[in-house]
Amino acid sequence: MTGAAGFIGSHTCVDLLTAGYRVIGVDDFSNSSPHAIERIREVVGPDVAGNLDFVELDVRDGAALGKLLGGGGRGGGPVYAVVHFAARKAVGESVRMPVEYYDTNVNATLRLIEAMREHGVRRLIFSSSCSVHGNADSLPIPEEAPARPTNPYARTKWICEQILSDLCVAEPDWRVIALRYFNPVGAHPSGLLGEDPRGIPNNVMPYLQQVAVGRLAELSVFGSDYPTPDGTGIRDYIHVVDLAEGHRAAMEHLDDQTGYRVYNLGTGTGTSVLQLVAAFSEAVGRPLPYRIVGRRPGDVAELVADPRRAAEELGWRTKRGLADMCRDAWEFQRRNPGGYDGVAG
Ligand SMILES: NC(=O)c1ccc[n+]([C@@H]2O[C@H](COP(=O)([O-])OP(=O)(O)OC[C@H]3O[C@@H](n4cnc5c(N)ncnc54)[C@H](O)[C@@H]3O)[C@@H](O)[C@H]2O)c1
Repeated sequence: MTGAAGFIGSHTCVDLLTAGYRVIGVDDFSNSSPHAIERIREVVGPDVAGNLDFVELDVRDGAALGKLLGGGGRGGGPVYAVVHFAARKAVGESVRMPVEYYDTNVNATLRLIEAMREHGVRRLIFSSSCSVHGNADSLPIPEEAPARPTNPYARTKWICEQILSDLCVAEPDWRVIALRYFNPVGAHPSGLLGEDPRGIPNNVMPYLQQVAVGRLAELSVFGSDYPTPDGTGIRDYIHVVDLAEGHRAAMEHLDDQTGYRVYNLGTGTGTSVLQLVAAFSEAVGRPLPYRIVGRRPGDVAELVADPRRAAEELGWRTKRGLADMCRDAWEFQRRNPGGYDGVAG
């Protein structure tokens, strides 16, 4: 699992370990903390923690990846599948630093594919994003809706999807599932694992979390003139534990067919930024300060998943609602006001 110390990786690691998988996690900690690995072990408990190996490496380093895939981790057995989370993910930053985004997101994926091919590993679950769609013609968005990415980050995801689809045509023994996440939020209900990005958060929920503990003064709401009922952007927020379970469902269905298949992971329900602020304020028990500012370049009005394909083919659907997402996110932030590394406010 690449990006295992990250927000979605750490929760998926817990889910897979708990379900009996052995996981070799890799990360370079460019957007995460080594403490996340300790927390994964703490959440799953001592009986299972030994099934997690961890190696610090940069996924762009093909030789290091090859060594790892060749070695098979603890016990030296073959690697069954790779879950590839590692990427840069901030839309605004991608506009300012496109080359770094293409390098980390596209180049690393190519190095990973080469290393996997060299060592006979041909099952891959890839982290894609609903942002590949850009401005959708109609909602909710099914997988086959046209891809029209509006920023470099989304383009890196769309390029990777096309690379993987082309690979599966050329080499039909690959089994690749791309999961297009909608807006992952929330945290593990233990309060031990959650979203703890380095620097100022780029997404609304971790930003709000840090406002709630006083690390940031107020939330900026980007745009109130979108064609939505309250004028703020609408997103399909999904609990990160539901998302983690979606990866396990994909893992269990990788062998249903060869080739490339893409699935939306979302709830099918849209929530506006102001509705999210209200729900999170409710979880915290007091109103949180926000200010409406101008639109942010690259943002779109509304993204809501049509999650039916994942339900029909993977037997997966979300179980947790907005109140659960807010409660669990708050529990994590309340217990870890300075994040994993105890960063002062
Ligand atoms: N969180 C979201 O809103 C969202 C939405 C759609 C898709 N995704 C995708 O899901 C994946 C995981 O996202 P996340 O929210 O957990 O992000 P994250 O930043 O918390 O996790 C990514 C992890 O990858 C690591 N990483 C980055 N570059 C690396 C490299 N070169 N080598 C090794 N490790 C590296 C980071 O240190 C981090 O731990 C990403 O591919 C992201 O693009 C995220």
